[in-house]
Amino acid sequence: MAVTKLKEGGNAYSAEMDAHERASRDEIMSLQKQRLAWSLKHAYDNVAHYRKAFDEAGVHPSDFRELSDLAKVPFTVKTDLRDNYPFNMFAVPREKLVRVHASSGTTGKPIVVGYTQRDIDMWSDVMARSIRAAGGRTGMIIHNAYGYGLFTGGLGVHYGAEKLGCTVVPISGGMTERQVQLINDFRPDIITVTPSYMLAILDEFKRQKLDPRQCSLKVGIFGAEPWTNAMRGEIEDAFDMDATDIYGLSEVIGPGVAQECIETKDGLHIWEDHFYPEVIDPETGAVLPDGEKGELVFTSLTKEAFPVIRYRTRDLTRLLPGTARPGMRRMEKVTGRSDDMIILRGVNLFPTQIEEVLLATDWCGGHFILELTREGRMDELTIIAEARSESWDGRGLLDHADRVSTHIKNTIGISSRVQVVPPATLERSLGKAKRLYDKRPKD
Ligand code: DLL
Repeated sequence: MAVTKLKEGGNAYSAEMDAHERASRDEIMSLQKQRLAWSLKHAYDNVAHYRKAFDEAGVHPSDFRELSDLAKVPFTVKTDLRDNYPFNMFAVPREKLVRVHASSGTTGKPIVVGYTQRDIDMWSDVMARSIRAAGGRTGMIIHNAYGYGLFTGGLGVHYGAEKLGCTVVPISGGMTERQVQLINDFRPDIITVTPSYMLAILDEFKRQKLDPRQCSLKVGIFGAEPWTNAMRGEIEDAFDMDATDIYGLSEVIGPGVAQECIETKDGLHIWEDHFYPEVIDPETGAVLPDGEKGELVFTSLTKEAFPVIRYRTRDLTRLLPGTARPGMRRMEKVTGRSDDMIILRGVNLFPTQIEEVLLATDWCGGHFILELTREGRMDELTIIAEARSESWDGRGLLDHADRVSTHIKNTIGISSRVQVVPPATLERSLGKAKRLYDKRPKD
């Protein structure tokens, strides 16, 4: 996939990296060691939960000498954060917080995270760095369609874009017709949005009979949900733009933990001067060597208000050596969360695998949902996929549906029913897409 419009502009990925982005692996590791020692002590001294967890595990921050010593420190999991709702995980007095965000949390209490002014400055720095790595430059216009509010997407990108010296259009999610109008009128260079909502924006371009390839957008910074390289191809073709991946989570800071560089698009460089990654075996908790796939775990290195120590993200990926930023490792595109994994008659399946198969057809543009039901004692998977308007035959593309079902059986090894529905049938997400509808009786 070519870097198109930016190269023509002649300002592609010029050497504007900051000192840490240019640092060698050794320099980054020595910085990490020093910062980890501080962060462990900071968490232990100021957060009752960490002190108790460390004491119970028989470890003390002063035991930390080498990066590998981190493996002795206990993990932190989502329920630890929930149990300390709302403010008990903070390592500074509440008055020192300049902002809080919270996860939506489908069940129970949300997770509340907080930031000091220094934390916001660091977050803005890593976000500015991410936008720059994606091809953004001072003076560009950014159409920011991530949701503003308790979700970290909108404000996280906003502060980073301002720091880089961009003009931000803080449109947030929703009002799709207006999104298209402002893209046409303001002529932004960059769009920041979830990939699934980008597809809804694409629909709206088509509805208004506008050619998306003629719009001003050169770069997209897509994240907050898993998406595939097949989806990248779909969006890049439709808009004649470069689509890059951004990763983050509220507990660690928000967007800007890792970002794909436009010149390589080969996975996401983790900003390792602030966030220390490990990949573990989700069953045993053992740290896996780089290159092996498992659950991603993060320890914050510089955060004041809400340090996280060995936080289990539940996201599945593997660590790879740095390329465009040799000092910082990359994480492979996240295929899914352990929570989203469907186990169907013993076979593991992620919604991204279905996305890949559907986008390999010429009739599906990437709108789909998965339904799990139980018939008798058997779990059944139904894939409800929307046809492109130019492909819809008014009946359900029955042959195509059969072919996809057979392909899934042969490649992934699961039986599924594929139902093709007319264009504009499935509900569009304004932010993160909901792919899985589990309609099995709760037992
Ligand atoms: O989604 C932060 C964010 C905003 C990231 C905007 C990127 C862009 P949370 O709402 O706390 O924060 O959700 C975090 O979303 O653990 C992953 O499961 C998923 N996620 C985020 N980025 C990606 C990505 C924001 N690029 C959770 N690929 C994470 C796959 C992602 N999954």
